[in-house]
Amino acid sequence: MAANIKTLVCIGLAVVLTGVGKSAFIGKSHSGGKDNLVLQYVVNNSLREHPVLTKLRLRTLDDQWNRMMVAAEQAQFMANLIRLVNATKAIEIGMYTGYNALSMALAMPENGQVVACEIEDTYIEIAKPFFKEAGVENKIDVQHQIALKTLDELTAAGEAGTYDFVFIDADKSNYDRYYEKSLELIRKGGIIAIDNVLWSGKVMNPAPNDTTSQTLDALNRKIHKDQRVELSMLTVGDGLTIAIKR
Ligand SMILES: C[S@@+](CC[C@H](N)C(=O)[O-])C[C@H]1O[C@@H](n2cnc3c(N)ncnc32)[C@H](O)[C@@H]1O
Ligand SMILES: *[C@@H]1O[C@H](CO)[C@@H](O)[C@H](O)[C@H]1NC(C)=O
Ligand SMILES: *[C@@H]1O[C@H](CO)[C@@H](O)[C@H](O)[C@H]1NC(C)=O
Ligand SMILES: *[C@@H]1O[C@H](CO)[C@@H](O)[C@H](O)[C@H]1NC(C)=O
Repeated sequence: MAANIKTLVCIGLAVVLTGVGKSAFIGKSHSGGKDNLVLQYVVNNSLREHPVLTKLRLRTLDDQWNRMMVAAEQAQFMANLIRLVNATKAIEIGMYTGYNALSMALAMPENGQVVACEIEDTYIEIAKPFFKEAGVENKIDVQHQIALKTLDELTAAGEAGTYDFVFIDADKSNYDRYYEKSLELIRKGGIIAIDNVLWSGKVMNPAPNDTTSQTLDALNRKIHKDQRVELSMLTVGDGLTIAIKR
C-alpha cells in the first residue's frame, strides 16, 4: 500500500516536472520554460551572455512576438558549435531582432560573416543598433528579402559547399526547401541547425488541419533516414535538430 502511494506520488511528480500532456520537453527560458526549475538552474549555472546580447534580449522582450526569439541557452550552444568547427561563414534563415545573429557573429573571428535573412524591416531596425554597439556590424550581412531568394543568389554566386553553419528558423512551410538549399551551400563537416522541430510537441500526431506540424514531422522523418547527414535531435528550446553534412 505504502509502496503504491509512493509510486503514485513519483508518477505525479514526474508528470508535474516534465509537463506531460502539455509538452514533454523544457521550452525556452524567456517564454514557455520560464517556470521550469531545472532550466532555471541550467541558465543560472551556465549562461555567459555578452552585455549587448543581454540588452538586445531585454529590448526584444518588449515585442509582442518575443516568443520567436531564440532562447539564450540555445544561442550559446550554437555559438559553441560555431567555435568547435571554426566557422567563418554562417547563414541565418529568419533573423527576427537579431539575438542569434549577434551571438554567432560574436563567436566568430574578425573575418567571420553571418548572412542574416529577414523580410520584416521593423525587426531589422531593432537589430542594427545592437550589432553596431557590439562592434560586429561589419560581420553581419542583413539580407532584407525572402530567404529563398538570398539562398538562390548565394548558390548562383558560386558559394555552394562553402558555408560552415546554417540556422533554419523562418516560415515552417518552406522548411524542406531551406534544408535542401542549406545542404547545397554547406561544406562537408558543416552544420545545419533546424529550430522548432518539436513545435510544442504538436509534431506527435498532428491534427488533420495542422499543416505546420505535419510539415515539421515529415521533415523530421526525412532527416532521420537521410544518409547525406549525421544527426541529433535535441530537446533544447522548442526542439533543435543538428545535421552534419557527410
Ligand atoms: C522565429 S523568428 C527568428 C528568430 C531569430 N532567429 C532569433 O535569433 O531570435 C522567424 C523570423 O523569420 C522571418 N521570416 C518569415 N518568413 C521569412 C522569409 N520567407 N524570408 C525571410 N525571413 C522570413 C520573420 O519575419 C521572423 O522575424
Ligand atoms: C536562479 O537564479 C535566480 C536569481 O538569482 C534565483 O531567484 C533562482 O532561485 C535561481 N533558480 C535556481 C533553480 O537555481
Ligand atoms: C580550429 O582552429 C584551431 C586554431 O587554428 C585549430 O587548432 C583546430 O584544429 C581547428 N579545428 C577544426 C575543427 O578545424
Ligand atoms: C484545427 O481545427 C480545430 C477545430 O476546428 C481548431 O480549433 C484549430 O485551431 C485548427 N488548427 C489549425 C492549425 O488550423
